[in-house]
Amino acid sequence: MIVLGIETSCDETGAAVVRRGSGGACEVLSNVVASQHELHAEYAGVVPELASRAHVEALLPTVREALEQAGVGLGMIDVVAVGNRPGLIGSLLVGVGGAKGLAWAMGKRLIGVDHVLAHLYSGVVGREKRAGKGEQGASAKVRACEGAREGEVFPALGLVVSGGHTSLYEVASWTSVKRLGATIDDAMGEAFDKVATIVGLPHPGGPNLDKLARERGANDRAFDFPVSRISTTSLDFSFSGLKTAVLYAVKGVPEDGKYPQRVALTHEQKRDLAASFQRAACRAVVIKIERALEQARARGVEYRALLTGGGVTANSRLRSELTAVGEKHGLNVLLPAMELCMDNAAMIAGLGAEMTAAGMKSDFDLQAVPTASC
Ligand code: KG4
Ligand code: ZN
Repeated sequence: MIVLGIETSCDETGAAVVRRGSGGACEVLSNVVASQHELHAEYAGVVPELASRAHVEALLPTVREALEQAGVGLGMIDVVAVGNRPGLIGSLLVGVGGAKGLAWAMGKRLIGVDHVLAHLYSGVVGREKRAGKGEQGASAKVRACEGAREGEVFPALGLVVSGGHTSLYEVASWTSVKRLGATIDDAMGEAFDKVATIVGLPHPGGPNLDKLARERGANDRAFDFPVSRISTTSLDFSFSGLKTAVLYAVKGVPEDGKYPQRVALTHEQKRDLAASFQRAACRAVVIKIERALEQARARGVEYRALLTGGGVTANSRLRSELTAVGEKHGLNVLLPAMELCMDNAAMIAGLGAEMTAAGMKSDFDLQAVPTASC
């Protein structure tokens, strides 16, 4: 089965082609992303109207490039998968409209995919295995999805940490997902971006903060920032208290509505703030993962894998902490390849292939929906 994936939920226009074999293994034949970061940089955030207009301009060239790179003609596509929720409504409408048009004109199957759940699939797509000489030629950029075999993965615990979402899921199969918890205020990536602004780092905040915290000599205990637990049983997340703690550490605690005057931060102070913030943010995630494992065990459920995805899974500290949690609890941790952490269409096409293989399809009245499906 060959699937064309389309992703336009926020500020990246993505198109990708994947091939799913009868055994369930899925190869990424191409994965093209046209980013709008420069367009939105001067506004320090995504401007919805600009984003949807840019998607209109980029969609068809991106799809064309993905087909070309995959060496696949439109006629060879079996299914068109599109991220139809959640996201910016104007942006989603462009992708959904484009996908419907292509599928209808070519007489193909259509499948709408939840973008957040597709992030969970990105860790499976990212199981990189360069094809050997005998298979596709030494230079072939073909990736095989390993670990997608149900017995190795399910039931799984799922973690999505992005700029818009921070959630934990119980994943019984690719078509049976239950949300266990979510952020009650800021998403983890949003907190990284806001803290980066407070510390005075340029856009893109999350990756720059990560880089600064990795510098030699960075002290992650220089500031004792709060680690949110919410309650003794909650699987929800909260990052706004941590963000405020960083703000107060930089500007002082406000009195009569005004921040006390502070001298500018030194580079060393910025570095230590970044490292201390990252430590507290990652700790909060690890606590919730261990809590979810414990609660599942009490219900007689033993997770086999930790599926992860979303922009913050590119964070170096989070990646090593998640790996360590996996080792401690005997979990198969599926981290996305770096280029699949951020929004992309390979994860949409991959999950679309799984849903199609499970017998699911969408009608041509498929809607763009701003909210998540679970
Ligand atoms: O998944 P994504 O591309 O978009 C959403 O669906 O939201 O995630 C983008 C988020 C941004 O907040 C960005 O700052 C964050 O992922 N991010 C990082 C890193 N790379 C990207 N946060 C921390 N460390 C990183 N290395
Ligand atoms: Zn995303």
